[in-house]
Amino acid sequence: MSAGISRSGKPAVVAHRGASGELAEHTLAAYELALSQGADGLECDVRLTADGELVCIHDRTIDRTSDASGVVSEMSLAQLREYDFGSWHRSGRAASVLTLRELLTLTLDWHRPVRLFIETKHPVRFGSMVELKLLEVLHEFGVAAPPSADHSRAVVISFSPAGVWRVRRTAPILPTILLGDSIRIIGGTAATAVGATGVGPSIETLRLHPDLVDRAAAAGRVTYAWTCDDQADVQLCADLGVRWLATNYPARVRDWLVTV
Ligand code: G3P
Ligand code: CA
Repeated sequence: MSAGISRSGKPAVVAHRGASGELAEHTLAAYELALSQGADGLECDVRLTADGELVCIHDRTIDRTSDASGVVSEMSLAQLREYDFGSWHRSGRAASVLTLRELLTLTLDWHRPVRLFIETKHPVRFGSMVELKLLEVLHEFGVAAPPSADHSRAVVISFSPAGVWRVRRTAPILPTILLGDSIRIIGGTAATAVGATGVGPSIETLRLHPDLVDRAAAAGRVTYAWTCDDQADVQLCADLGVRWLATNYPARVRDWLVTV
């Protein structure tokens, strides 16, 4: 079976920042919980530290998700390791910063195939450095050149057409998803121009433009919808033929999918 592909033809479930509705986002515990709940895929955001390591952090700063403050790109990994990235959350569990390498290890060592959706943040500001580092790490883990897109264990996702294009140029088999809410970009020629294998509208955009899924399929692209935490949205994604559905609550979404 392809990595993380739903057996049923229903949307496959991607844990957005881990099971982040229950535990602190981007922590090892949140990803382990998502995997134990049966998630088909994991989503993470990656940023470069001052010393060139990729860490799983959504915001530009660590202020919201740690017990400290500062800009990620101005801090070293060793500095980030001094802080607690879990206790801010209502679950109250202390946690270290998570590196992409640590998350890849968890994903690839899991006892069933799981796919990791890696979102590059602010690739314009860093030029091509984020993608270069990401491809270096994926190469190191042996997942940069999968036998086919369907069997890839990693998917690079980005709001930046330039970022997607850089990945496609260097790693042509690696699946890529162009995220966005602009119909012009994800429904039109931009996704084709950069060679994205999928498009990623928000669920709000998909509610307004449900035809996006068929348009993507007609162009040979899959649809990845984010972030679907309501049962009606999960039903909509199933009805439309969305391939990947990102949620903060993988356990409850998997339950809902049983009946769609
Ligand atoms: O999975 C895509 C989604 O995560 C994009 O939005 O802000 O949560 O990274 P954001
Ligand atoms: Ca993200």
